Amino acid sequence: KNKNKVSWVCSDCGWTDGQWWGYCRECKCVGTMREFKEVVVDNGGKTSGFQVSEKIVQGWLGKGAGENVPMRLTDVNKGVNPLNWRFPLSGLFGEEVSRVLGGGLVPGSLVLVGGDPGVGKSTLMLQCLLDLHIETWKIASIIAEGKEIGKSAPVLYVSGEESVEQIGNRADRMDISTDELFLYSSTDIEDILEKAQVLSPRALIVDSIQTVHLMGVTGSAGGIYQVKECTAALLRFAKKTNVPVFLIGHVTKSGDIAGPRVLEHIVDAVLYMEGEQYSSHRLLRAFKNRFGSTDELGVFEMSPCGLKAVMNPSEIFMSEKHSDSEFLAGSAIAVIMDGSRTFVIEIQALCAPGSSLSRQVNGVQAGKADMIISVLMKQAGLKLQSNAIFLSVVGGATLSETAGDLAVAAAICSSFLEFPIPKHVAFIGEIDLGGELRMVPKMEKRVSTVAKLGYKKCIVPKLAEKVLQGLDFGDLEVLGCNNLKEVINTVF
Ligand code: TYD
Ligand code: MG
Repeated sequence: KNKNKVSWVCSDCGWTDGQWWGYCRECKCVGTMREFKEVVVDNGGKTSGFQVSEKIVQGWLGKGAGENVPMRLTDVNKGVNPLNWRFPLSGLFGEEVSRVLGGGLVPGSLVLVGGDPGVGKSTLMLQCLLDLHIETWKIASIIAEGKEIGKSAPVLYVSGEESVEQIGNRADRMDISTDELFLYSSTDIEDILEKAQVLSPRALIVDSIQTVHLMGVTGSAGGIYQVKECTAALLRFAKKTNVPVFLIGHVTKSGDIAGPRVLEHIVDAVLYMEGEQYSSHRLLRAFKNRFGSTDELGVFEMSPCGLKAVMNPSEIFMSEKHSDSEFLAGSAIAVIMDGSRTFVIEIQALCAPGSSLSRQVNGVQAGKADMIISVLMKQAGLKLQSNAIFLSVVGGATLSETAGDLAVAAAICSSFLEFPIPKHVAFIGEIDLGGELRMVPKMEKRVSTVAKLGYKKCIVPKLAEKVLQGLDFGDLEVLGCNNLKEVINTVF
């Protein structure tokens, strides 16, 4: 006796509605609601939303009937709870990953690793878990389960995208030769978890959430119900067995159905891997982390034999462009946020005297550019009147934040005054109509990214100095300025 029920699901946040509203009532996005036909089956009196086999209900895939009772906080924290431990990964590469994870891997955690297709997620996962200290891991499993795990608990890498041979080839190219890595190719979550439970690995990697499916759940692999139910099954597996699970998820450009965004609130931690198309460096960032801060940034370089941790990020970030000079002519570095992520972008300006008064802006709002130019003329006394001014954001990024105002102004000054700005200077701040610098949100985060990337100087609004006081930014010199004139006097 099957009956189809129609519901509407937001492809962005996963909110489910019984009827169509024209927008998502949860995240207020317009045009993201998609129709889904939910199959309702009658399994012996109990009606469930999904057609779920008995086996799933009983196993770790099910909701686990009655084994959990509420516990007193003092009982929870009594004694040594190995589940609060963190297991650092060894080696330079492992250290970089550990830091992003908040100091190490937590047993029983479910970590989502997101990123554009081809950015290097599979490569990262294949490399990093072998660095998990097997000795400490054994101790934890003894305490947690009262039994010692096998002589060498392996790492299990399950791929629904590539065959075992393909992964093997890749591992070969990356020079990974170990008997502790097990490869398996499957798209059936039930099958994967069964195999994983038998193997009792020190970590499980599932590549990728878009390719796996759970029998009996509506929709094809990658669909919103599949993605959510598969993730929930992996979460229950992780919590029940204490095996940390890494889940790879592709971010789709269109933000279409079942991108990792839907999963962000289910999993314990979300790491995003980013990289520009024509550059070999990759950034790994914690977007959400139940076990640590989200301020950490891992920097890697993609080489023909896999990813390498970059110990001195400033080198790759600065040699990339204008490698032969110490200065950026007509360019300034801005720090912008995207969600909770920070990016460093380069803004270029060209002031061509004598030509007709044309203005061309790329990646910066025209109105914003006009305002900054006018403020520079009126408040800072720059004679820009007889110049054609071109503005562009390198790499096609779009500057939509006011925090980039100061960098735009600095780039224009640099071109107009024909004074190149040293490459290691970054600019953060909003400019008001009076030419004064204003605070922007998340100042600490922006400045620490700049410091991490190896910049030497960061120009910020004077008020930000107070906020940043007492924080350690390493070698970075933070300079507070009240207004544009001060900035010009400080930098130029
Ligand atoms: P991959 O890890 O497959 O990306 P994802 O899983 O995120 O889709 O990495 C794909 C890219 O990385 C591919 O374009 C080739 C490059 N690559 C290297 O440059 N060196 C290597 O050793 C490997 C394995 C991949
Ligand atoms: Mg892959």
